[in-house]
This record gives sequence, structure tokens and C-alpha cells, in this order.
Amino acid sequence: MNATVLIPAAGVGSRFGAEIPKQYTVLAGKTVLAHTVDIFRTNPRISQIAVVVSPDDAFIDELNLPAHICRAGGDSRAESVRNGLNHLLKNGLVSPDTPVLVHDAARCCLPAAALERLLDAADAPHGALLALPVADTLKRQDTHACAETTLSRDGLWQAQTPQLFPAALLQRALNGSLDGITDESSAVERLGLRPRLITGDSRNLKLTRPDDALLAEALLRLHP
Ligand code: CTP
Ligand code: MG
Repeated sequence: MNATVLIPAAGVGSRFGAEIPKQYTVLAGKTVLAHTVDIFRTNPRISQIAVVVSPDDAFIDELNLPAHICRAGGDSRAESVRNGLNHLLKNGLVSPDTPVLVHDAARCCLPAAALERLLDAADAPHGALLALPVADTLKRQDTHACAETTLSRDGLWQAQTPQLFPAALLQRALNGSLDGITDESSAVERLGLRPRLITGDSRNLKLTRPDDALLAEALLRLHP
């Protein structure tokens, strides 16, 4: 397999609250983005890594990452992914049937075994994604943030990344309104297709709020 990894890294990290975008925060001796790229660089089934950054990104150049840098980030994650993918296709860096793995820059602790499970599912007809069955009890709140009802968690999964689709399918899925599209699978589902759910890993957390840094750093120090 000759898969391409597409890493959206054009966010500002508002919830994380650092002075610079969270993908450039240093954890365990390296930037978050460098850790994320390192997850993929020696995998024999991955032939190319592309990183999408914002057009006015001031940090990416000095990192010297072993990746193709695409300065085409958009206003939303989905737009950044769409722009990056269109750039890769237009420039012949991927062909329509190339498997593309989209992975959040902010998920810097993805364990190798979870990545292998997803790559093993590359033949799934409608693509595949890492996800975890919901473990906690789910509450719906009333207007005062009090628990009104308890929802069944039967059959519910939390989506993670990477998410894996043939380039042409992903391009078709992202073509159109991106309202409510928070991951690639949701765009593919909108076409009436059903991406396969592959068991992810609780260590594959997304650096979102300041507290997440503590856990991510501990995980990175365990398995640098
Ligand atoms: N992302 C992107 N382009 C955007 C927004 C997000 O490429 N316009 C990327 C982020 O850099 C991140 C991933 O998508 O790697 C997941 O998004 P999220 O965790 O929401 O990151 P931010 O949008 O940066 O954070 P926040 O929502 O707190 O501002
Ligand atoms: Mg965001």
C-alpha cells in the first residue's frame, strides 16, 4: 500500500489557550506537530506526509519537517482538509485511488498498533476510521445544565482520527456545503455510504484543553 497522510494543522487552538497554536507547543522535547509527523514517517505502508497550515503560519518553516507543506488552511477543519486534498490531487501528488489518511495534528499520541489496525482496513469499500465505543453514561441537560434524561449509549462510538478514504471519494464527499461536517466520515456518510468503525485507543487523545497537555506529555515520555 502507498498511503498518503494528510494532517490538518491550520487551527488556532482557542480552547487550549496557549499564546501560539497548540500544534507548536513543545511537549517532551518536541513540538506537538513534530511528534504527530513522527508517528507516520517510518511506516512502510505510508509513502507521503502532507501538512496543511494556515497561509500566514509563522512557525512551520523552522521545524523542517519531513513532509510536504501546503499553506492552504481554511476557516474550518473541513475546509483545511478539502483545500489540502485538492492541492495534492491537482499537483499529481496523489491519484484518485490513493488511500488518504486524515489525522489531526493535535493527536500526537496515536499508538502504532491502532494505526496498523486502520491500515489493515484499507480495503473497506466506504473507507474506515478509528473510533471507541462510548464508555461513560450520557446525560442530556435541561436549560439550567441539570441532568434531564439519560441516553442509551448502545451503538454509540466516539470518532477519532486517522480516517482513511480513497482520495477521489474523499474529494467528492467534501465537495459541497461543509456545515456540520466535523470529520471526514460525516461527509462520506452524507453520500449514503458507511465507513467501517475500527477500534481506536484511549491514548489517542486530541489535545484540546490545557489539562490535556499533562496527559499527552506523560504518554509521549512513555513511548517517545
Ligand atoms: N484545524 C485546521 N484548520 C482549521 C481548524 C482546525 O487544520 N481551520 C486542525 C487543527 O489544527 C487540529 C485539528 O484540525 O489539528 C483538530 O481541530 P481542533 O482540535 O478543533 O483544533 P483548533 O481548531 O486549533 O482548536 P480550537 O477549536 O480550540 O480553536
Ligand atoms: Mg477547532
